[in-house]
Amino acid sequence: MPSMSSLPPLVSGGLPGVGHALAFYRNMPGLMWRGYREHGRVFAYRLFTQRVAVVIGPEHHRTFFTQTDKTLDMAKPYAFIRAIFGDLAFLGSTEKYKAQRPLIHLPFRREKLARYLTIMQERVQVWLDSLPDEAEIELVSQIGRVVQDVAGYAFMGADFQERVGREFWDLYADLSAALDPFLPPHWPLPKFRRRDRAKARMAAILRPMIAERRAHPERYDDFFQDFVTARDRHGRPLDDDELISLILGINFAGHETTTGQAAWTIIQLLQNPWYLELVQEEIARHLPPGTPIDHQTMRAMPHINWAIRETERMRPSAEMLMRYVMEETRFGDFVVPEGWLVQTAAVVAHFLPELFAEPFTYDPLRFAPGREEDKADRFALIGFGGGIHKCAGMNFANQEMFVITALLFQQFDVELLTPSPNVERGLGASRPTPTWLRLRRKVNRDRASAGASGAIVPAGESRMSKRATSTFKTVGRSIR
Ligand code: HEM
Repeated sequence: MPSMSSLPPLVSGGLPGVGHALAFYRNMPGLMWRGYREHGRVFAYRLFTQRVAVVIGPEHHRTFFTQTDKTLDMAKPYAFIRAIFGDLAFLGSTEKYKAQRPLIHLPFRREKLARYLTIMQERVQVWLDSLPDEAEIELVSQIGRVVQDVAGYAFMGADFQERVGREFWDLYADLSAALDPFLPPHWPLPKFRRRDRAKARMAAILRPMIAERRAHPERYDDFFQDFVTARDRHGRPLDDDELISLILGINFAGHETTTGQAAWTIIQLLQNPWYLELVQEEIARHLPPGTPIDHQTMRAMPHINWAIRETERMRPSAEMLMRYVMEETRFGDFVVPEGWLVQTAAVVAHFLPELFAEPFTYDPLRFAPGREEDKADRFALIGFGGGIHKCAGMNFANQEMFVITALLFQQFDVELLTPSPNVERGLGASRPTPTWLRLRRKVNRDRASAGASGAIVPAGESRMSKRATSTFKTVGRSIR
């Protein structure tokens, strides 16, 4: 039996009763760094009465991500998310997860991703066309809408997005606002009532659509339809409630995370003009206006991909991942007992100098041939998790971030007006604080539209463009 001395050592600064809860909520990265400096790659802190072990570095990430749910359980720490989305896939029992796992990977097959690439270009182009030729925009909210618009068209279908998309996505705000890891989710608080009303409305939107799709499966070819026609491991179709949970849950997993990393990718490029220049050269060579982006084009433009990966390293949307310890688990010299939580901390792990040279310097070329710092260990970079629960939407998100970045810099000169945005931490994902950019269009709009989407998309046609006005200002009028 392990001795007590092999428990992970406690970080300093805990207070009676609350433990490290205040430090955690005020400055989570500060707490993680303190623990790492005091004790190294495995240490512990206390959230009220709950003990949490933090594990840092590829050797411990491997254990974290490859233990089965029977040992390190994912559903329990995310129970507060389950209160909103129901007992679906990764939030449900091990049995349910095993049955549903093939379904959550269904929409991300290679041939599907190629189709989504076309949709992404069309929707990003509609956004760019909706902007004045000179404008100041708030990047994060604009990207948030683009990401929702892409998800609407790619996952739910054009019919859905055009009829109810905006209302549906706005209701998400009430779901996110009700994420609360501490309060019992059924308490009669206004935010929980709003959550229940939003959920009921979203279900009311989806139910007739599900019925129509069950009756006429041949009319649809999208992510939503994949779920409607899918069978789980036991050959059983999903019932309406399961479908609704899955749709709400997957869209939740996808949109805030992508918004954060896409916005940071653009911000970090603007903060590092030496690298943006390399990206601009790459765009000029491989993506002149009018060139459609396909997987071959993406492979020919590695600089954008390295920028996206460097942002995953330095500004991950999912900064910490949690598991509940069901059976005592060893991490190096330490034993984490049953009943504890165990947590990763990318805010430290992605900055280990043993793995990443000059870790606090933005340098996407660390991923270029000859260096490839991410390849030394497949658990070094964990922005998309790892092992069995590794992000199902990773390729989708990476290609979406590519399209947003490539088309924005292809068509606009961009200036960063908010020089140093901060990280805003939410319970869903982290993102930059509001960030203003100045844009000046540099290419002929019609040529760019025609090339990117295969059809000219008139400016102002989209629903999104009408609503986006609150987050941009035409230069010349008063701003902010
Ligand atoms: C930049 C964008 C994204 C980031 C940073 C991200 C990050 C992550 C991470 C870290 C995990 C693992 C969670 C854990 O182990 O506790 C995860 C899982 C997951 N992600 Fe993503 N994600 C992104 C985009 C998406 C998108 C676009 C979708 C789908 C539309 C998606 C769907 C999922 C699903 C379904 C899982 C659970 C997989 C499982 O349990 O088997 N994600 N994501």
